[in-house]
Amino acid sequence: MATKSKFQAIKGTRDIQPPETALWNRVEQTAHEVFATFGYGEIRMPVFEPTELFARAVGGETDIVSKEMYSFEDRDETSISLRPEATASVCRAYLEHGMQSLPQPVKLYYMGPMFRRERPQKGRYRQFYQIGAEVLGGTDAPAIDAEVIEMLMTYFDKVGLHGATLYINSIGHNAENCRRGYVEQLKTELAKIKDNLGPDSQRRIDTNPLRVLDSKLESEQPYIEKLPRIADHLCDECKAHYAAVKRQLELRGLLYQENWRLVRGLDYYMRTTFEITAPGLGSQNAVCGGGRYDGLVELLGGPPTKGIGFAIGEDRLILSLQERAKLEGPDSPLATRHSPLLYIAWMGERAYAAAIRAAKDLRNAGFSVELPPLEQKFGKALGQADKLGAKYALILGDNEVAEGLWTLKTLLTGEQQKFPEPELLEFLCQQKKVSS
Ligand code: HAM
Repeated sequence: MATKSKFQAIKGTRDIQPPETALWNRVEQTAHEVFATFGYGEIRMPVFEPTELFARAVGGETDIVSKEMYSFEDRDETSISLRPEATASVCRAYLEHGMQSLPQPVKLYYMGPMFRRERPQKGRYRQFYQIGAEVLGGTDAPAIDAEVIEMLMTYFDKVGLHGATLYINSIGHNAENCRRGYVEQLKTELAKIKDNLGPDSQRRIDTNPLRVLDSKLESEQPYIEKLPRIADHLCDECKAHYAAVKRQLELRGLLYQENWRLVRGLDYYMRTTFEITAPGLGSQNAVCGGGRYDGLVELLGGPPTKGIGFAIGEDRLILSLQERAKLEGPDSPLATRHSPLLYIAWMGERAYAAAIRAAKDLRNAGFSVELPPLEQKFGKALGQADKLGAKYALILGDNEVAEGLWTLKTLLTGEQQKFPEPELLEFLCQQKKVSS
């Protein structure tokens, strides 16, 4: 049992340990591979930025900026924040490095930790990880929205996430004949039902009325369902754009559900918004969120620039994959193991020299090898190999070395085979091919 140590990870943060890290690596590797096939390049950005960047991009009235950011004054008295998300940073980098002069659009992806001081629970942490992608510049052709979503669904499929549901909406653009007009009407209607709403929603009537639609509070649901819907207030261009996005999704064979209440918690969105939920996550079931943000680069001081992207919550993706692996049992392709393939049970001076050489050759060939540092009794060595979950024990005593025939024991079946040294490697390579 673990002893209680003097220091513990800060609330809402955690260590991700082996063997779980193997799954994280696989999830990340698959993202590198899939995103590259869609022409995206990886960008790595600082984890802290000027506070003002997030205040401007995400919005000063949003929960993320007003309540959840880790902000501090640097020694030169500038205000700095740990990034709560990365879209703002990507736009900052796009401008800072003059990416407008590259062929447009510029397609970038990132992965790494984000920080929000939320109430921790399953699937919600204060340091969490996102895998995100952004398309900046070029046109706002609906095919781009659909291709971003196609990439995402392809990725989920490749990584083994089953049962993901795609929800989409359009929240129009910030004009009187579109979203602004709708928000005014929404405010009027919300004022009429104010007394039936909880304190959070009451506050949001003035600060961020669209976010009331996001409320999960049971008692508010019958009232919210009767509120006016944005689809009835979109301008002609936004309506046409939304219809074309849906057509483009259908062309790609992507199933979606429309959700008129999907407004998202960040201010920069316009037109297309989307979210994906996954099974096994309880109440924090959004595994990905994204949308179009055509005005954001301009808001940060750049020229008018189209933009769309998403971020996957990697912690939640992993949780959902682990839940699936649990249901499927130890044979699940998602089950993570961190065991050596081969344990070298050596006995004797000469055998040790051969064991060191064998370990080196086998590792060079890509096998995971455990070489005990001290001589062990035969029975103890095999017991240890078993405990570590090794598939084979390579038995190397002075006799084996003198004979030039090494014994390989398959631990599960107890079967033993003798091989001359070079053939052993060949045999293991064959086995690897068969099992992969
Ligand atoms: P977001 O919806 O705030 O969007 O976050 C995206 C995803 O990150 C969520 O769906 C969720 O899976 C995960 N996530 C958020 N907060 C937490 C948390 N406290 N603990 C664990 N997971 C969390 C954005 O961040 C936008 N930047 C997405 C985007 C990119 N839009 C356009 N481009």
